Amino acid sequence: MGPHRVVERAAAGELPTWAEATEERREHMSRVAALLASWSAGLGVPEDERTRWVALAYLHDALRDADPEKLRGRVPPGLTALPPSILHGPAAAERLRIDGVEDGGLLRAVAYHTLGHADLGRQGHALYCADFLEPGRTGLRDEWRAGLRGRMPEALHEVVREILGARIRHLLETGRPVRPETMSFWNSLASEG
Ligand SMILES: [Fe+2]
Ligand SMILES: [Fe+2]
Repeated sequence: MGPHRVVERAAAGELPTWAEATEERREHMSRVAALLASWSAGLGVPEDERTRWVALAYLHDALRDADPEKLRGRVPPGLTALPPSILHGPAAAERLRIDGVEDGGLLRAVAYHTLGHADLGRQGHALYCADFLEPGRTGLRDEWRAGLRGRMPEALHEVVREILGARIRHLLETGRPVRPETMSFWNSLASEG
């Protein structure tokens, strides 16, 4: 069975009807899509699977500009206490599930694109990196990020670990909590050696 229609349309740059995304957000999605298209080709990902990678670029932030407090009631019970800025991932995944999308790897990649998760596959890792490394995001360690971008997609495994390590360090240094999903993401990468 091929990808769901919503996924196929997203891969062509068309957002779901329920999306709430500003023009600026859509530009971010396009830049993430360009990276995912290039990386998946570079890694030799089969054509039909590349559709799923590119679709992630348009689906992951589809609810990023919705009112977080409206999203809070639409995420699974274990995630209702998340900070406002993180709810849009799980909420978009739940909305896609309602649309009939059953692609577990894709739904997990959408839901956990900010927090990370031990069960993310290669496409989830790639989205995690593309979201952080896309060139339109500026003013945050630009040279370091350009360097990481230059090592993609071959160094996907090392790059995802570097980004995640930096994020966890930042949380620790600013005295903020680290979600168990994020720690288990780290452990899943670290134990692979
Ligand atoms: Fe996001
Ligand atoms: Fe994003």
